[in-house]
Amino acid sequence: MSTFKAPKGTYDLTPPDSAKYLAVREAISAPLKNSGYGYIETPGFEDVALFSRGVGESTDIVSKEMYTLTTKGGSELALRPEGTASVLRAALEANLHKLGNLPVKLWYSGSYYRYERPQKGRYRHFSQVGAEAIGAEDPALDAELIILADQAYRSLGLQNFRILLNSLGDKECRPVYRDALQGFLRELELDEDTRRRIELNPLRVLDDKRPEVQKQLVGAPVLRDYLCDACKAYHEEVRDLLTAAGVAYEDDEKLVRGLDYYTRTTFEFVHDGLGSQSAVGGGGRYDGLSEMIGGPALPSVGWALGVDRTVLALEAEGIELELPASTSVFAVPLGEEARRVLFAKVTELRKLGVAADFAFGSRGLKGAMKSANRSGARLTVVAGERDLADGVVQLKDMESGEQQPVALDALVAEIQQKLA
Ligand code: HAM
Repeated sequence: MSTFKAPKGTYDLTPPDSAKYLAVREAISAPLKNSGYGYIETPGFEDVALFSRGVGESTDIVSKEMYTLTTKGGSELALRPEGTASVLRAALEANLHKLGNLPVKLWYSGSYYRYERPQKGRYRHFSQVGAEAIGAEDPALDAELIILADQAYRSLGLQNFRILLNSLGDKECRPVYRDALQGFLRELELDEDTRRRIELNPLRVLDDKRPEVQKQLVGAPVLRDYLCDACKAYHEEVRDLLTAAGVAYEDDEKLVRGLDYYTRTTFEFVHDGLGSQSAVGGGGRYDGLSEMIGGPALPSVGWALGVDRTVLALEAEGIELELPASTSVFAVPLGEEARRVLFAKVTELRKLGVAADFAFGSRGLKGAMKSANRSGARLTVVAGERDLADGVVQLKDMESGEQQPVALDALVAEIQQKLA
């Protein structure tokens, strides 16, 4: 071990486990690529104000959890705590919304940073794969995204997850509800912090997990009773489309989410095997975010699924992903001449797309065969001086243990045939 360790709340992905993370990212992005979403990548840091305006001053993410820094040039930056504000910023900057093709559908995959109290499933550096559909108000788009996330999880074999669904109303009906809720909350016995929250973000008070708070919340006005007709009809349509697609969901009127930009549809994917950090993914509609960051009106919807928690969910369900061995052929040279000959063969195989590896360093037959075993290769090629003098190499099938001499000239063809 070196003097240094990964910073608190972070961990490294190392082989062989790292392959699982790659497979999860691939599984989540595959349905998106298949549905018209284009890949977008944005910087790991942004102007702090993008997040304070976009995600919201009063959220935990902005008020407590951002990694901020001042550059030598005096810019105030923050490591990105989430992807939506950045992706929308980038889409506006590139004028993607003006190309006449709305919605602009984008997907992304990357690292995010939140200064949270670390625990299982909650890290200071984590990965998300996300999708944003920008510039269309259409319940089918909300449904599409939820269906694609469901499909992604199912393709991984996950079963014990649930979809929680809610509508947060729009700029017509939410303020009316907010007033009513504030009126109700101001009458309760609450601590200073919570009282402040009533003024800043009263919906978040509903999310308070403390029993003494929850007890007092019985009888609080519910948003559903305040939704305007347009929001109600929109929400009904999303629900109908999900039902028609055979995607099961639960109505959860308490679902408020931890970011301020949401309007109308909000949803969360929760997994029942994860303990307290049960949200494996979440998202919703954010019809006002573009204007909040200085853009035109662009109603949009999206989600982000947590890669770390999805891997934990796989473990909780005992799912072993079928990951193909990364190496198909392993070459073991015995002696200088064999080293040159086999290295050339390995290069040739790789060019043909056959995953091949080589016993580097001079470790002798036993050590090299151990490496061959560990690589998971189906075939091992061994060659010593006597083999080469006869114009052959030994080809060993690692499954059956059978070994046979193969003419050097015929080796590549023989390997391709065996692997086909
Ligand atoms: P979020 O709910 O804050 O939403 O994060 C989405 C997912 O990221 C969570 O469900 C969780 O799996 C993962 N995640 C968040 N924080 C952590 C953490 N500290 N450690 C491990 N995993 C974590 C968003 O970020 C929104 N941008 C989603 C969205 C996209 N809404 C609209 N478009």
